[in-house]
Amino acid sequence: MADLILGRVLSFAADPFVAGPEAARIDEAVLVDERRIKAVGSADALRRAHPEARVTDYGRCLISAGFIDAHVHYPQTAIIASWGKRLIDWLNTYTFPEEMRFADRSYADTVANRYLDLALAHGTTSMCTFATIHPGSVEAFFDAARARDLRVWAGKTCMDRHAPEGLRDTVQSAYDDSKALLEKWHGVDRLSYVITPRFSPTSTPEQLAALGALWREYPDCLMQTHLSEQHDEISWVRELFPQSRDYLDTYEAQGLLREGAVFGHAIHLTAREKSRLAEAGASVVHCPTSNTFIGSGLFDTGLARTLRVGLATDTGGGSSFSMLRTMAAAYEVAQLRGQALHPSQLWWLATLGSARALRAERMIGNIAVGMEADLVVVDLASTPAIAQAVTRAGDVWEAVFPTVMMGDDRAIRAVWVGGQEYARA
Ligand code: GUN
Ligand code: ZN
Repeated sequence: MADLILGRVLSFAADPFVAGPEAARIDEAVLVDERRIKAVGSADALRRAHPEARVTDYGRCLISAGFIDAHVHYPQTAIIASWGKRLIDWLNTYTFPEEMRFADRSYADTVANRYLDLALAHGTTSMCTFATIHPGSVEAFFDAARARDLRVWAGKTCMDRHAPEGLRDTVQSAYDDSKALLEKWHGVDRLSYVITPRFSPTSTPEQLAALGALWREYPDCLMQTHLSEQHDEISWVRELFPQSRDYLDTYEAQGLLREGAVFGHAIHLTAREKSRLAEAGASVVHCPTSNTFIGSGLFDTGLARTLRVGLATDTGGGSSFSMLRTMAAAYEVAQLRGQALHPSQLWWLATLGSARALRAERMIGNIAVGMEADLVVVDLASTPAIAQAVTRAGDVWEAVFPTVMMGDDRAIRAVWVGGQEYARA
């Protein structure tokens, strides 16, 4: 049966980094049927045209495409908010010991289910995640996502050096395990496999080359990794790859730079790296709560004018599961760089911007006819502090901005996944 969903329906006709806030529009109703968006428009007209549709009225709530978290590590769910370390120490102290536990498939199942329940409770309906080196950690995530009918991306994280015993694969096993997972899962229901070298310090050039070769065999899948997150990390990469022109070149030299490459963080880029990323049509992902929490630096959101830029929590380097908290951090980081991002730009990054970064903008990330019906319904007066600020709002963006800056999972009134209202666990 068709569903007619009423509220303040937010969609994007263009990119607000190019077209300004006018890129966004607000309608009164969205019609959903057979898992897709069938129409967007005025409530009266859609009611008249579809008298058979079941009506759900969310009043003054904002109805948006579900949030898309373009870079997360679901296995780090339990170590979110771990104190006092910077990147390399943080990996060695908290992350690697926790990722070790994913050798146990039942532990992976437990965390995958917990992570997805948390993500959905925060209005996130799609994400692109790193798993651990264990193939079972990918299987656990895909099983849990499939049971919820989610559109997700995931890959086995490959590391053949500078990681503890038990958390290292080899050139051959990284290639073989990634290929087996890819063949089994890529394109099944709403699941996509992503080729996933963790980052250059933990992969030998030979392993990067093997994954580059695998990517040439499966050119339609994505490749995700990390790039230029902290100064110490960049110096280490320079020592490990003395022949490379820069950090990006360590990937480029092995066939890991082209459309479909998704680089997390990308904070301290050289001019050459920026122009090569743009020429190659690669994507970068802004992880602002992580970049402040781990002390990495201030991403340049101006890159959104030349590159595909997504937004992400980077759970558990990031300090929140919420894309609203992540938008707030993106706003603050841009302010520290002298730029005030408009709420339309922040919202776009968390939805269509992330979809574009994952090259999925024809499927998810917007409310438009033909798109998959993954929606988030946001209460714009979810706490007393937000509600009192909203009474001053003169337009929709002034009504949205207090929720962007102060909202969290309490603002998530409902989520719809694949055209169905998602029943919370
Ligand atoms: N660089 C390599 N691995 C990681 C990770 O797990 N988290 C973050 N934030 N950066 C990384
Ligand atoms: Zn990461």
